[in-house]
Amino acid sequence: MTPPGGVLRLADGTRESFLCRRLRADEAAAAHALHRLVASGLPAGLVAAESPEFFAAHAERLGRLLGIFTERGLAACAVLGLPGPGDANFGVDHGLPEDLLPRVAHLDGASVHPLYRGNMLQRLLIDWRLAEARDAGRPIILSTAAPGNHFSLDNLLACGLQIRGLKTRFGGLRCLLRRDLDRDARPAEDGEWVDARDYARQERLLGEGLRGWRSRRGERRELYFAAATEAAGAAGDRENSALAGR
Ligand SMILES: CC(C)(COP(=O)(O)OP(=O)(O)OC[C@H]1O[C@@H](n2cnc3c(N)ncnc32)[C@H](O)[C@@H]1OP(=O)(O)O)[C@@H](O)C(=O)NCCC(=O)NCCS
Repeated sequence: MTPPGGVLRLADGTRESFLCRRLRADEAAAAHALHRLVASGLPAGLVAAESPEFFAAHAERLGRLLGIFTERGLAACAVLGLPGPGDANFGVDHGLPEDLLPRVAHLDGASVHPLYRGNMLQRLLIDWRLAEARDAGRPIILSTAAPGNHFSLDNLLACGLQIRGLKTRFGGLRCLLRRDLDRDARPAEDGEWVDARDYARQERLLGEGLRGWRSRRGERRELYFAAATEAAGAAGDRENSALAGR
């Protein structure tokens, strides 16, 4: 399911072609270096500081590293986690029952080199990971994003993930995000736009079983919270209620 390559537009108007492929284990250091580079340009606490071992483990056995290359090297990279028994599983934070943990895939970080920003590469990397997770028999997609990391949060929401909880993780507050590939969930129309920084209100709505679906920016940034409407026969929300009040 590797996406075809294409052409990237740079800020100075020039163009560069790119291709997509998985990284080999001996390329994990390049993924770590790109992560370090992009993280150094962000306010502290917005993204987790990952170790070289984190990238090596995902290339070797814990999942996959997916890369976008130009003639200059690695332009963007994303981590897909396919945790096995005994590995840390985001499903625990989501209150998933034990029997669903083997169906979980993690979207565990993405980096786009500043030269190539604005080409929607994060969305390409999310969609690519969704396809890989589906092929791997992992339809429960879980991720996290700092509420203040607007670029990343907006891209995750645009790719169909929903905010299902708020929790302190990786050194700061994180939105717990989820998408079920085997369900067609849509937001109810009678939801509520909430100030993106009003975490108390968001917690309350999440506790009532609502989810965060999308963002908008007017005078202030807001998030749309609403109940999910799903096709009949969906497995139900028994897990989501476990997140209430955190
Ligand atoms: C989040 C991230 C991957 C998004 O990169 P991307 O796919 O190139 O972003 P988009 O194409 O959606 O960009 C949309 C707009 O936001 C801008 N933008 C994106 N990331 C930006 C950033 N970190 N700083 C300033 N502007 C940014 C783009 O230039 C673009 O602007 P435009 O509409 O005027 O052209 C990238 O910002 C990044 O690597 N951030 C650091 C690591 C990170 O936060 N990872 C995700 C969580 S682990």
